[in-house]
Amino acid sequence: MALIKWDAKLNVNVPEFDEEHKKLVQMINSLHDAMKSGKGKELLTKILDEATDYTLKHFVHEEKIMVQYKYPEYKEHKATHDEFAKKIVELRNLHDQQRLPSNQMLNTLNAWLINHINDVDKKYSPFLIKVMK
Ligand SMILES: [Fe+2]
Ligand SMILES: [Fe+2]
Repeated sequence: MALIKWDAKLNVNVPEFDEEHKKLVQMINSLHDAMKSGKGKELLTKILDEATDYTLKHFVHEEKIMVQYKYPEYKEHKATHDEFAKKIVELRNLHDQQRLPSNQMLNTLNAWLINHINDVDKKYSPFLIKVMK
């Protein structure tokens, strides 16, 4: 069973970012499925690497657009990305040293992603929708 369902309430209404958020949700779900079905460590690590990579690329993409359109809350937004990028590395290290169970790692990623979309990404919606027209 999948962990998160994409919900229209998660839309930020900037199509390229909604697509990327959907892809992130899908990746977290594949991670969840791989864990549940007791897939090997190798596959889990591979999916984790891909999810981390995609998340960081998504941050860079959002930051590029925010800078391009001079989004006034860029600095604050970037700070939350940077903080999470650091957190991912910490979690990964703990996980790789087997000091953090996979399900806890997954729950943290999941909660952060949903909260970030709802509390931080959605703030750029009215601004970007207007300027990107
Ligand atoms: Fe963001
Ligand atoms: Fe985002």
